[in-house]
Amino acid sequence: MLPNLVLIGFMGCGKSSVGRRLSLLTGHRFVDTDDLVTTAENRSISEIFAAEGEDYFREAEARVLQDLVGVCGIILSTGGGLILRASNRETLRQIGVVAWLDAEPDVLFERASRSGKRPLLQTADPRATFDQLIASRREIYAATADFRLDSTHYGHDEAAQLLLEEALRHRQRFAY
Ligand code: S3P
Repeated sequence: MLPNLVLIGFMGCGKSSVGRRLSLLTGHRFVDTDDLVTTAENRSISEIFAAEGEDYFREAEARVLQDLVGVCGIILSTGGGLILRASNRETLRQIGVVAWLDAEPDVLFERASRSGKRPLLQTADPRATFDQLIASRREIYAATADFRLDSTHYGHDEAAQLLLEEALRHRQRFAY
């Protein structure tokens, strides 16, 4: 049986789009931590950041993640900062095979800033903020993931296919 697959990576790397395609390929249910937080809080991520601040969001994010322990048959897409807490990193590796979906910084920035929905990039100099955040996180993504896929030159369908093939090579971490 295919274990759960967990997608980590920076804003704009395509976790949700690739995750939905993986769900179609595998029959696993697509789950997104940002969606779970939004539903639990009944407001958008931007509203939560504006009204309560980042720490509050991180608590909510850690709670929805914890609720997924023991759940089988899922493709889990995670918010880009979920890996910041060591306890979350452990939980992610317990939940499934962890894939780091990466892309070149220019590509990530273009995609991440497109929607205007990323509160962390609402600064005077979004590109500088982006560069700082990514520099502080790359090692954490690398240390958390079973493997990395650079999706810069792939469409979502191709990335999903490659990711699935690579994930199958890592499933021995799980007993089933
Ligand atoms: C965040 C990434 C966002 C969302 C929140 C914080 C981050 O998710 O969780 O805005 O800290 O990188 P995406 O990675 O899906 O954009």
